Amino acid sequence: MTPGNGFPAGFLWGAATSAYQIEGSPLADGAGPSNWHVFSHTPGCTHDGDTGDVACDHYRLWRQDLDLMAGMGLNAYRFSVAWSRVQPDGRGAVNPAGLAFYDRLVDALLERSLAPNLTLYHWDLPAALEEAGGWTNPEIVDRFAQYARILARALGDRVAMWSTLNEPWVVVNAGYLHGVHAPGRRDPAAAMRAAHHLLLGHGAAVRAVRDESPRARVGIVVNIEPKYPASTDPADVAATARADAAMNRLYLDPLLLGRYPEEMPAIYGDAWPDHPAGDFALIREPLDFLGVNYYTRAVVRHDDDVPFLRAAPVPQPDVEHTDLAWEVHPASLTRTLLWLRERYGSIPLYITENGAAFPDPDTSPPEGLDDRRRVAYFRGHLRALREAIAHGSDVRGYFAWSLLDNFEWACGYAKRFGIVHVDFATQMRTPKASARYYAEVVRTNGAEFDAPEVPQ
Ligand code: FCB
Repeated sequence: MTPGNGFPAGFLWGAATSAYQIEGSPLADGAGPSNWHVFSHTPGCTHDGDTGDVACDHYRLWRQDLDLMAGMGLNAYRFSVAWSRVQPDGRGAVNPAGLAFYDRLVDALLERSLAPNLTLYHWDLPAALEEAGGWTNPEIVDRFAQYARILARALGDRVAMWSTLNEPWVVVNAGYLHGVHAPGRRDPAAAMRAAHHLLLGHGAAVRAVRDESPRARVGIVVNIEPKYPASTDPADVAATARADAAMNRLYLDPLLLGRYPEEMPAIYGDAWPDHPAGDFALIREPLDFLGVNYYTRAVVRHDDDVPFLRAAPVPQPDVEHTDLAWEVHPASLTRTLLWLRERYGSIPLYITENGAAFPDPDTSPPEGLDDRRRVAYFRGHLRALREAIAHGSDVRGYFAWSLLDNFEWACGYAKRFGIVHVDFATQMRTPKASARYYAEVVRTNGAEFDAPEVPQ
């Protein structure tokens, strides 16, 4: 540990992005359409009908984006691979041009001393696989492992850090249960099947990556949102436990304890399937690390009108919320990290996403660049992270979400998370105050994160 600041030596300081949110050119060079391409082109599915057709044009401007990170002094970059560039219909032959894009990207990262942290699946599934049932179809487990194998074989000599899935909870809940993300389904039984296949696919991909690249460190990225009861009423306390089970423990328990939370059959009733006991050995394949995406917490009350969960979030008055109405609550990051160790034992952790959408003054430079609320958000969460580390949490890196303003899924381009401003009409990038602040954090390995002044 470096004296005086609380961040370990060798700490990874990075920024995170994902393929469909930044790349644009989704069908270039032989790529197939993804489920997000289909979904965003379906009228009414995204804000203003926004799509990822252009996004940040990173597919063409990637060198510039890597230079931006190098200029900030970052030492790591978390990105995802678009499966449908590598295997246009999700099966069979590799599309060499698609794979070459990531091959070049990885080399260019290493040239800039940015450690590549690769996510295999950040929500964009080849459309052909979605048409065949997507994650509800058990065949996807082998397909995903095949795809993981292709990438590990091609990049495993240079990429040391691999994540299988990003936020399976969002895939299941937004995609298959509530229909607000691709593929837009609203089917509880399908959603619960998808959850199980995501976990099996994860385990199969871990094995495939390790087979191809013995040096690879392999993990998964989950989003954790701690739940607090709105009152001491036992009904609220029980509702809180259900909300926690269905969001947080539904994924962590099978991954790390080899079983589903006991609340699940009561929550989902007939929609909750029986699972062969033998499946858990694969799901529980040991992890080298756990990636934690942390944004907010939830206060929960009992509510009979909410199907299955019978629990509803209670918005907190008089506290800060981001542009997505997410409560700003840094103390819950500390609590999350300490809870992880308490419940699951010690496993190396990375904060793989943390950040905030704010309506940057008028979103255009120069005013739009003085994003002091985002700076304050980062400062509060870095303080909370240091606190967790001081209490023994084994956190080895932090990735700010996000490098660039980008396609924020169903919210389209209306919500900006970037530390670098993107003018979507000209593709001009301009670092915001938060980028300068973060560069200073990185330069001092965290020592300066508390400094009151944002360096100009
Ligand atoms: C996470 C996603 C990421 C981004 C942020 C704001 O759930 O992983 O792609 O949308 O939220």
